[in-house]
Amino acid sequence: MRRLRATTALRDLVRETELSVRHLVQPLFVVADEAVREPVESMPGINRLSINELVEEAGDLHAAGVPAVLLFGIPSAKDEVGSGAYDEEGVVQLAVRAVKESHPGLTVMTDVCLCEYTSHGHCGFVRDGEVDNDISLELLAKTAISHAEAGADVVCPSDMMDGRVGMIRLQLDEEGHSSVPIIAYSAKYASAFYGPFREAVDSTPEFGDRRGYQMDPANAAEAVREAKLDLDEGADVVMVKPATPYLDVIRRIKDETGAPVAAYQVSGEYSALKAAASNGWLDERAAALETLTSIKRAGADLIFTYYAKEAAEWLR
Ligand code: PBG
Repeated sequence: MRRLRATTALRDLVRETELSVRHLVQPLFVVADEAVREPVESMPGINRLSINELVEEAGDLHAAGVPAVLLFGIPSAKDEVGSGAYDEEGVVQLAVRAVKESHPGLTVMTDVCLCEYTSHGHCGFVRDGEVDNDISLELLAKTAISHAEAGADVVCPSDMMDGRVGMIRLQLDEEGHSSVPIIAYSAKYASAFYGPFREAVDSTPEFGDRRGYQMDPANAAEAVREAKLDLDEGADVVMVKPATPYLDVIRRIKDETGAPVAAYQVSGEYSALKAAASNGWLDERAAALETLTSIKRAGADLIFTYYAKEAAEWLR
C-alpha cells in the first residue's frame, strides 16, 4: 500500500475526498444595535455584528471565496411568542436586505427558529409549560416567509417541530416563493455541543431542556426516518447536526436517501478545537482541516462551519 503514498503527486492523484471552499457556509450572528463588533468569548474569531459590520464581513467572506452565509439574529427584546422572529423589520429581515443589496452574488441563508426571540428560550410556542407543536408551525412558517420576502436565498428550519418543512413549503409556495429552497435541520440532536452558541445568542432554555423535540444522541435509524419525512414534505437538502460526533449518521442518510446532505460543525466543535489550539495542544490548521475532510468523506455535500473564513485562506 505504501507505493502510492511515496510522493505528494502520487497521494494527490489517488485522493478520494477533496475539500473545497465552494462547499462551505459561514454562520454569522447579527445584533439589533449600531456599530457593534463584539467578540463571542467562547468562540475566538467569531463576533456579534451590527448590520453595517455584517455587511463588511459578508464582503470579506465573499472576496475570500466563501459562497454562502447563514444568519442568526439577536433581537433587542424577546417575548413569549418570539415576535421578533417574524417581524418584517426584525434584525434578520433588515440584515438580509442589507447584505443582498451590497453583495447580491453572496448566497444568504437564514436560520428559521424561535429560540433566539423567545423570552423562555424554547424553539416553539409554549403552552402550559410545553412546546406546542402545531401552534409553533404557524409562527415558523411566518418566520420563513418574512425571510424570503426580505430576499433570503435559502431558509433553514432548525426548530425540530414535526411537520414544519411541509408547512413552510406550502406557505412559501402560496406566497410566491416557490423557488426558495429549504435546507432542513433534519437530524438535529439534543447535544451538549451547542453551549457556546447559546451563550452567543442568549438562548439557553429558561426551564427544562430541548430533549422533547431534538433527537436522542443514541439514535441513528430515527435520523434516517427524520430525513425521509423532511424530503417527503419538500426539503431540498437534509442536515445532520452536530457533525463530527455523528459521521455515521451523515453516511447513513446519504446512502439511504441519495439526497443532498448538509452537516453543521457546531459551536462546541469549533470552541474545542480553538481551546486546544490556543494551549498549543493541537496544530489548529491541520486539525480543523482534518475534521472538515472527515465530514466530507462521511458523505456531506455542504458544511456549515465557523471555520469557513479561515479554511478559505488555508485552502487557497
Ligand atoms: C436554533 C439553533 C441552535 C443552533 C443552530 N440553530 C441552537 C440550539 O438548538 O440550541 C446551534 C448552532 C451551534 O451550536 O453552532 N435552534
